[in-house]
Amino acid sequence: MIRNMTSWTIFIFGMSGDLAKRQIIPALYALFQIRKKTGHIFTIIGAGHDASTVEAIIDSSKPFIEKIDEQTLSDFVDACSYYHVDFDNPQNFADFVKHIMMQKDALSDNRLAYMAVPADYFCSLTKALTAAHVLERGNTQHHIVYEKPFGWDRNSAQEINGCIAHVIDQNQIYRIDHYLTKGLVSNIILMRFSNIIFEPVWNHSHIDHVEIILDESIGIEGRGSYYDRYGALKDVVQNHMLQMLALIAMEEPKSIDEKDIEEKKVEVLKQVKIKEVVLGQYEGYQKEPAVNPQSTTETFVACKLTIDLPRWLNVPFYLRTGKNLNQKLTAIIITFKEMKSCFIKTADQCAPNVLTITMSPDEGFRLLLNAKKPYSADEVTTAAMDFCYSCLFGPETPQAYVTLLQSIFAGDHSVSVSSQEIDYQWSIIDAIKAHSFPILPYKKNSQGPAAAIKLLSQKDHV
Ligand code: BG6
Repeated sequence: MIRNMTSWTIFIFGMSGDLAKRQIIPALYALFQIRKKTGHIFTIIGAGHDASTVEAIIDSSKPFIEKIDEQTLSDFVDACSYYHVDFDNPQNFADFVKHIMMQKDALSDNRLAYMAVPADYFCSLTKALTAAHVLERGNTQHHIVYEKPFGWDRNSAQEINGCIAHVIDQNQIYRIDHYLTKGLVSNIILMRFSNIIFEPVWNHSHIDHVEIILDESIGIEGRGSYYDRYGALKDVVQNHMLQMLALIAMEEPKSIDEKDIEEKKVEVLKQVKIKEVVLGQYEGYQKEPAVNPQSTTETFVACKLTIDLPRWLNVPFYLRTGKNLNQKLTAIIITFKEMKSCFIKTADQCAPNVLTITMSPDEGFRLLLNAKKPYSADEVTTAAMDFCYSCLFGPETPQAYVTLLQSIFAGDHSVSVSSQEIDYQWSIIDAIKAHSFPILPYKKNSQGPAAAIKLLSQKDHV
């Protein structure tokens, strides 16, 4: 079947940077490969701080590109152009924009500007692009994407939101969080509200505690100048982890419309209370390239939070993330309360039911149940019910950034976080930062600082 093709001009600001190399370019290549199937064709105009070339940039992306076909890659390179631009120099950026607009007949009606640059540039670049009509306010074919972290604290996020609201409409804006496109994250709402076995027990009467884990075995991977300024709290807790918490804890939305979901997530985020925090830094971090040798930036966070809502009375939510840990695991673990059983004579309680939703490494979920041990009258064993996503739907579930770009092409705002959510997410981080918790050292390839292991094994009520 031959589809009508929709052509796009995609601008990538920060094309020579790390995010473009690891995520955006590989995702665009994957979409370029299937362009005849999706009907979306595009050309890419990139700009960045480095004096580089399209060939060199795409070459550096190669290790992150799946299934390279040399002919397709060469066609992809032909569809890209790159300009060395100094974003700190308004005149230099204005000259670049002028140059682009001199060839405006070559631009598609559908335009997407991707801000893969630090949030410091969001306001000035958006103003310059709209002033020159690269993006026109009110033109629903023109979109702008802002990478996370959106700002570096609540004040900065509010200022940026105020600035961009003057020049572009909300429905043209995507403040993205790539976790929202991960298969199982987007499945959380569906799973909670379309299975009658979950919703009636999804509360403090039945749930003992919730763990949200984003452990990484990788380090900062040459991103020292970015990471040292942000740290784990701003890099992943402010966004990915608080979004997972909001989805797990929110009330049922009126519909799956993003406005209804956002309203319910906000109700949760504004009631988060901080109980305990452990921050850590892996040994050797201060010697990483582009990191301050006296740096006090945290590369590990473990915290205990509660949510001041009737549904979650006294239920602790434990969050843990860190770089250079002993495992790569992204998961949400919901431990239900233990149950007395007259059946078991060998113990007072049955083991708790545990629901684990795993995003990485293997997408899926697992429910632990108690079952009778075969050939025994009163012995209990744990039976696991597994749902393996890749076993059912194949190993090629789309990468988060591919889904993200496809959602934007389709005008789907569910991958975007609202300014209100961002506001509350920053309030939580600002409040943790204000405490100046000590930064405890931990060994690479470990579970993090000992104090965190203790905190996470308490699992008591608050
Ligand atoms: C990014 C962070 O947003 O998320 C990285 O900047 C982190 O530091 C990454 O490694 C984790 O994402 P994923 O999809 O690999 O779990």
